[in-house]
Amino acid sequence: MKILKAGFIQTEPEFGQVANNCQRVADLLEKADADLMVLPELFTTGYQFTDREEVAAFAETIPEGPTTGFLLDLARDLSVNLVAGLAEREGDALYNSAVIVGPGGYLGKYRKAHIFDAEKDLFEPGNLPLPVFDIGKARVGIMICFDWRFPETARTLALNDADVIAHPANLVLPHCPSAMVTRCLENRVFAITADRVGREQRVPGEPLKFIGQSQVVDPDGNILYRASTDGEEMKVVAIDIDLARNKNINPRNHLFQDRREDLYRL
Ligand code: ACM
Repeated sequence: MKILKAGFIQTEPEFGQVANNCQRVADLLEKADADLMVLPELFTTGYQFTDREEVAAFAETIPEGPTTGFLLDLARDLSVNLVAGLAEREGDALYNSAVIVGPGGYLGKYRKAHIFDAEKDLFEPGNLPLPVFDIGKARVGIMICFDWRFPETARTLALNDADVIAHPANLVLPHCPSAMVTRCLENRVFAITADRVGREQRVPGEPLKFIGQSQVVDPDGNILYRASTDGEEMKVVAIDIDLARNKNINPRNHLFQDRREDLYRL
């Protein structure tokens, strides 16, 4: 058994209130005894930017920017690995990104590959490979929210030896919590979806309600914990990483070795 204490923070960010949103995360995280914690997509800012200029005003460089610095301090002080979503700027390009940091420092970043709906007016699609990071007790892959709708994302992370998929999210469609059960079954990985709750309507006629239900799912598709649809919370569960390293479904079926790449179209 290789036990990892892992979980999520589900928050209700107030749009643009970066300092308050960070403080709320720090307060919730202080009570966590964990090796790995996942925070929502765009956790510092909120989701519904009105235009690119507004994104640009909030976007930060990674790892030089203040949010990565804030997360680095938390990770060091609490001895925890953190995965968290934020708006990133690189030159004129804007990305919906996630950063991973640990007690020893910055580990890396990922830029959301499949950007959703109005995000296409705000962000560039991600241009980095789907990453897997070794945090010692586990290998952690990262994808962001709508990436769930493209099964190749989780499959690629699993083929790259991820044990756990860290999944910052701001979910507005209802299907993801169930779909992630299938992603875990398909790949025999753990998945931690960290969602937000609350509503935003910053663009007239486009109200958004975020569905919460952050969750931890195991490689057999069991939902180890699912959060509420409407409250902030922090949850940690102990997961056995060895389960994700055994890709046998039964003595005669191996999830990866039985793949028929000769028949698939990629
Ligand atoms: C989403 O990708 N945040 C819906």
